Amino acid sequence: MEILQKSFSDSNYFTIIFLHGFPYDSRMWKYQFDLGNVNLAALDLLGAGSKKTERLFSLEAMVDIAFSEIYSLGWKNILLSGLSMGGYVALRMLEKYPSFFRGAIFFDTRSEADSNEVKIKRAQNIKLLLENGIEKFVENFVPLTVAPNALEENPSLKTELLEIAKSQNAEGLASQLLAMQGRTDTTHVLSEISIPSLVVCGELDSITPPESMKNFASKIPNSLFEVVPKAGHMAPIEKPEIVNQIINNFINNLPK
Ligand code: MLT
Repeated sequence: MEILQKSFSDSNYFTIIFLHGFPYDSRMWKYQFDLGNVNLAALDLLGAGSKKTERLFSLEAMVDIAFSEIYSLGWKNILLSGLSMGGYVALRMLEKYPSFFRGAIFFDTRSEADSNEVKIKRAQNIKLLLENGIEKFVENFVPLTVAPNALEENPSLKTELLEIAKSQNAEGLASQLLAMQGRTDTTHVLSEISIPSLVVCGELDSITPPESMKNFASKIPNSLFEVVPKAGHMAPIEKPEIVNQIINNFINNLPK
């Protein structure tokens, strides 16, 4: 089991588990490892990073494998955090294990299952991935995940994101697309979330725009909604200082 992690001996600390978005892996959270006074772990979801595979799998398998890793860390006071696809996994995990977590942080995600239009788009993307290969696919896809012009304005962000995305394999990403296409709707879970929750969205996110994230947050009792100025769908890596400050404020106000 390969997990990016940083832990302190103080058992009173909170622990954040980060679940990445598509088509990336745990390395997208590298700047969140600058957060202090909190234990951190970023997992690779099935099909990405250390869990690349050529085998087919479902979102349920992604959830089960991630949960067994989280459980085996043996940490307490866990805040579950997921971005987009990682958020789909987090929501299903909260549905299955509602009393396991102490808090939740959702980045740029949604609870609804795929519409027919999105299902067809996923089928096209699976075809593109398998027929043209990963390089071409990610070169077209990665710019959609950040704010307009972000890659031109920030060449190191471009290098980082392309490097992570290109190191995946076509079969693993295709299977993640199929898994997302087949996931359940978890909208009913939102109103049942009773742990403190933070919902964060990039101001310029075109995949899960602020209006839809605001609506998502409004369904979670006592949630806090924050918009990250000038960020797209990948706020934690586009604007890490702002995101880390938002996370710190949330943690500092949690009941101990
Ligand atoms: C992601 O960022 O994980 C994807 O945009 C999720 C999706 O394609 O639904």
